[in-house]
Amino acid sequence: MRIGIYPGTFDPITLGHANVIARSLRMVDRVIVAVALNPQKSPLFDLPQRIELAKLATKHLPHVEVEPFDGLLVTYVRSRGAHAIIRGMRAVSDFEHEFQMALLNRKLDEGVETVFLMASEEYSYLTSSMVKEVASLGGPLQDFLHPDVAIRLKAHYRQA
Ligand code: PNS
Repeated sequence: MRIGIYPGTFDPITLGHANVIARSLRMVDRVIVAVALNPQKSPLFDLPQRIELAKLATKHLPHVEVEPFDGLLVTYVRSRGAHAIIRGMRAVSDFEHEFQMALLNRKLDEGVETVFLMASEEYSYLTSSMVKEVASLGGPLQDFLHPDVAIRLKAHYRQA
């Protein structure tokens, strides 16, 4: 059984993320969406909320689980019996940071590979930060987010 770990902050999960998850299922038998606590990023949604949103956005996909993780990614990857970290690559601008992370993780654990997948080009511009900005300004979200996630993000800004 090949297990891929798809880690991220997912604040919130977008259609671009879900597209990468769907693509990764062509390569691995199971994908674990690993939602990082990541307090240094001061996420808009807390960890249980980000997990719930990731579950809603992937409920149509088989063989996908969503879990929290904290601490070193490579330690978590090993603890799940996985060998591959999956990351999405949108544009050249992502490359530098992703390259550094992949090499650092390899240095920390030689047995863990990072695999990069390109999301569909219709999502190549999409980031959670930009979607939050659009939402905060009352813009439409249907092209960016799963409907259930969009409802939650809109509700968040209505309350704020
Ligand atoms: O969605 P993001 O914010 O790009 O995800 C970044 C994430 C969570 C994958 C990265 O910050 C991470 O792996 N954090 C865990 C701590 C760790 O292992 N750091 C060393 C590798 S960068």
